[in-house]
Amino acid sequence: MRDTWKAGNMLYPVPAVMVSCKKKDENAKANIITVAWAGTICSDPAMLSISVRPERYSYDIIKESGEFVVNLINKPLVRATDFCGCRSGRDVDKFKELFLHESESTKISAPGIMESPVSIECKVKDILELGSHHMFIAEVVAVTVDKQYMDEKNRFNLEKAGLVAYSHGEYFELGEKLGKFGFSVKK
Ligand SMILES: Cc1cc2nc3c(=O)[nH]c(=O)nc-3n(C[C@H](O)[C@H](O)[C@H](O)COP(=O)(O)O)c2cc1C
Repeated sequence: MRDTWKAGNMLYPVPAVMVSCKKKDENAKANIITVAWAGTICSDPAMLSISVRPERYSYDIIKESGEFVVNLINKPLVRATDFCGCRSGRDVDKFKELFLHESESTKISAPGIMESPVSIECKVKDILELGSHHMFIAEVVAVTVDKQYMDEKNRFNLEKAGLVAYSHGEYFELGEKLGKFGFSVKK
């Protein structure tokens, strides 16, 4: 037996990410918005999307600067992630309030978040005005990672970062590894 619901967003789990952004103006303060409506959309060129409501303080910053950084979150960042999703940069300096540090990006002027295991530098290519949310389609121009997850063989052990997923209004740390790409057909 299955219940039928009216149409709504039930594609879970999704990543919740901290998106950092900054106006091009030199004196501007960087801001962070939490985004769960984010996704990978193309491998080559590497592209991703974030969907943001126009009323968010970050919306105009991203639209005008044409840049943002997607910062993956882990267990130590989950409280800060929630805070950045409940408070606006109009009222509070989120970097300062949360004792987070800006990390200089390599290809864009918006900073990443030093405490994040992976920061993905993005340039906006297109904006789709879908409805409640406008989707920023962006090209990934660089990725920086926290070196503490690199091993002596120069392998990046992302599984050690304690990444967090968002599902139906709640945050979860990733759990047990169940297999790897292609394991079902491997001889
Ligand atoms: C877990 C979570 C996910 C969120 N996802 C989105 C999202 O995908 N798009 C969006 O516009 N707002 C999203 N929000 C709400 C914004 O993060 C929130 O309104 C924030 O305060 C906006 O910050 P700003 O005004 O400084 O830009 C989310 C909030 C939380 C807690």
